[in-house]
Amino acid sequence: MSNVLLDVQGLSRRFGGLKAVDGLSLQIRPREIVGLLGPNGSGKTTALNLISGVLAPDSGSVKINGHEFAGSPAYRITHHGVGRTFQLVRLFNTMTVRENVVAGMAFTNGRLFGREAARQADALLERVGLSGYAGKEAGQLAYMDQKKVELARALAGRPKVLLLDEWLAGLNPTELIDAIALVRSLKDEDISILMVEHVLEAVRSLCDHCVVMTAGAPISYGTPAHVLSDLEVVRAYLGDDHA
Ligand SMILES: Nc1ncnc2c1ncn2[C@@H]1O[C@H](COP(=O)(O)OP(=O)(O)OP(=O)(O)O)[C@@H](O)[C@H]1O
Ligand SMILES: [Mg+2]
Repeated sequence: MSNVLLDVQGLSRRFGGLKAVDGLSLQIRPREIVGLLGPNGSGKTTALNLISGVLAPDSGSVKINGHEFAGSPAYRITHHGVGRTFQLVRLFNTMTVRENVVAGMAFTNGRLFGREAARQADALLERVGLSGYAGKEAGQLAYMDQKKVELARALAGRPKVLLLDEWLAGLNPTELIDAIALVRSLKDEDISILMVEHVLEAVRSLCDHCVVMTAGAPISYGTPAHVLSDLEVVRAYLGDDHA
């Protein structure tokens, strides 16, 4: 379909004998939030790595706006509108918070430098709740704040599709309410989102539809209400730690 922004078909990747991702297909349309759910080790982060070009798939297709990008390097995929955050935050620790966000502008079409870049970075930092942090060394921030810097950096690349890997994990209840509102506001700005998330409250309130994976393979597609009942089944088999 023509209005599919991100079209993933039959995505697969092995690590030795392990099928980490095994035939994953999903589609994201403009202003959709899609949840990618599943037990620990089911291949969610690997799927994001394959989509964002951190890893190359063994097979399968990753189309952005109808163009094939499977196996392309990460910078090309970023340049074509797919941004991401990492489950384990990856910042330039000895650079300032502002410099980290400016670095995220390097792959946008209108590359920005100097004052205008700093101004836009500061606006993004305010957006994620970090006004006043711009001059601090990124490595000195608390972990949750580092996650916010990473989101600001991803947004600096002006993504059309944003991949979030457990971005809401570890928030307290008040922070969670703010973070859910922030994610929703991104959707209102025409950013589509693929979110790997264990926080079911967030999945319920944010996701238009979801994919559940176990052992690399998709087992369930549908609305949050529909797939969360399947996730319960997974839990019943594997225990609470896994879902
Ligand atoms: N680079 C790698 N080399 C070898 N095995 C890997 C590699 N990356 C991931 N794996 C394995 O692939 C499987 C899927 O891992 P992945 O990190 O994608 O799971 P996940 O669903 O994100 O789990 P979690 O919920 O714990 O973050 C796991 O068995 C993991 O050990
Ligand atoms: Mg993961």
